[in-house]
Amino acid sequence: MCGICASVGFKNGVELVVDGLKKLEYRGYDSSGIAYLKNDEINLIKSVGQIKNLQEKITDNLQSDVVIGHTRWATHGKVSVENAHPHISFGKSFALVHNGIIENYEHLKKQFQIDNLYSQTDTEVLINLIEKQEGKTLDKLIGACNMVEGSFAVCLIEKKSDKIYLAKRNSPLMVAISQNGCMAGSDISIFAKKFEECFILEDDEFVIASAKKLDFFNKYGEKIEKTPLNISNFDFSDENLNEKYFMLKEIKEQPIVLKKTFFKYFSENYLNEQLLSQLGKFKKFHFIACGTAYHSSLMGALFLEKFCRKECQVSIASEFRYANRVLSKNCLYVFVSQSGETADTIACAKLVKEKGMKVMCVTNVPYSTLEHIADFVLPTFAGKEVAVASTKAYVSQVFTLLIMVLKMAKIDEQDLLKDFVLRYDNFNFDEKLLFPISKFKKVFFIGRGQDYVTSLEASLKLKEIAYLNCMGMASGELKHGTLALIDKETLVIAVSTVESLKSKVESNIEEVKARGGKVLLLSNLVHNVDVDFRIDLPSFDEILMPIVSVIPLQLLAFNYALMLGYNPDKPRNLAKSVTVE
Ligand code: M6R
Repeated sequence: MCGICASVGFKNGVELVVDGLKKLEYRGYDSSGIAYLKNDEINLIKSVGQIKNLQEKITDNLQSDVVIGHTRWATHGKVSVENAHPHISFGKSFALVHNGIIENYEHLKKQFQIDNLYSQTDTEVLINLIEKQEGKTLDKLIGACNMVEGSFAVCLIEKKSDKIYLAKRNSPLMVAISQNGCMAGSDISIFAKKFEECFILEDDEFVIASAKKLDFFNKYGEKIEKTPLNISNFDFSDENLNEKYFMLKEIKEQPIVLKKTFFKYFSENYLNEQLLSQLGKFKKFHFIACGTAYHSSLMGALFLEKFCRKECQVSIASEFRYANRVLSKNCLYVFVSQSGETADTIACAKLVKEKGMKVMCVTNVPYSTLEHIADFVLPTFAGKEVAVASTKAYVSQVFTLLIMVLKMAKIDEQDLLKDFVLRYDNFNFDEKLLFPISKFKKVFFIGRGQDYVTSLEASLKLKEIAYLNCMGMASGELKHGTLALIDKETLVIAVSTVESLKSKVESNIEEVKARGGKVLLLSNLVHNVDVDFRIDLPSFDEILMPIVSVIPLQLLAFNYALMLGYNPDKPRNLAKSVTVE
């Protein structure tokens, strides 16, 4: 999983590509690099770590009108300068940046005797495979790609050439042209304020891009026509960082995201009668997603069963993918994904679609791969989410699914939701809580029903940015094993927002206390139990409490990470968008 960016024709190509890479850094930040043409030869600059390290190596005013760049999330080979892209062919004629995984690279390496590689990457095999093919550069690229199994989005340059060559399969790639040149890359953000329209490439399409022209080809090398997408009205505005960290900015944006979501779904009527009636015809809903989006799917399923009495199932995409599940035409397959680019989620969407099932996606990124596959699209309006830990996207997914369910159930809760979005404001997290909490080596989040889902999400946040070995679980499950771990070094964070389950939560808290565990209670309810710490939540209707309760827990994780000296925006080993299996 990586981000790629290329520029041809623009005199300030290096600057454009480096700026583009910064926007793509959410796709990986293990290393980065550029390749550019100077005096007809290919030059490379690479660096380990974030793009700022690469920038320090680039001399001021370095000019080139043919440039490719890459930001890496390591898959094959450790994090090192050698493994950083771009990779150059043995003959030094070609350089390549690649997002994806060449699954049969070992086989290709043997078959074509590609030995003595400089790096440990599958990409270096690909660039040499390209060099070994017959014909013109496009033929070479097509020939190599046709032999590859796996996923790729690639930008290729050649010495003594003023062109860039593009190819893609199962990884995103788009290209745009203006009077001054072309740019290509992994997502639409790189085109901000520079282009009026862009072309989104389909699998097994190829492009030759020069300063003045774009030519598109299929995998047989035949020329094809493509329709551009107008992006002049695309909203690129919310990429500015007015806080020190994107994660905090995004947490603070949540009240606005809720208002925007309400407005879109009620005033602009994004979910019209026709779509609602189509959705209503399905007897069953099967949600499929990863990570945080899996948690919002669990919440969506709870809402659907409660209000619409529809049978629901929720699967983790990487499990669903190889499980050979029984599919049904009565079922709507719902794919929830902030990015719309998560490899496992996309693979499952393609799989069910190929078998003739209907696919809906709930996604935050317009024109994403998932949107492209789906029969029905339910957009979320969180705006660009940059921090690796998902916050506002989760809240927008939960709120959007709630709105969908209430509309499907024909329950008119418009006033209730409106009152909520107007009254709900940022939560003031009391940092004094951090020190006592930080003394615990073991942390469990517990809850029932919707609070169980919140516990899972809260625990994921704390793991991914504060590296705390914690766990979210159903309160009722404690006594089936985990209770054995409870002692005075354990903190149990109990989430309680459902009046009818209050007494059950209290019993679980007593069970923890009886074993010497300490308890932090996060609730808007009046509880009859003594606890060690409390976070009091503002009270709203129970169906809205999953949104209200998760935000202090996002802030807990954020502040905890800061306290330990970690950068919450860029946790180790992770990337924002997981575009490989
Ligand atoms: O873009 P997606 O919603 O498909 O991403 C799914 C997960 O990779 C993502 O939610 C991940 O778990 C987050 N880092 C959690 O904060």
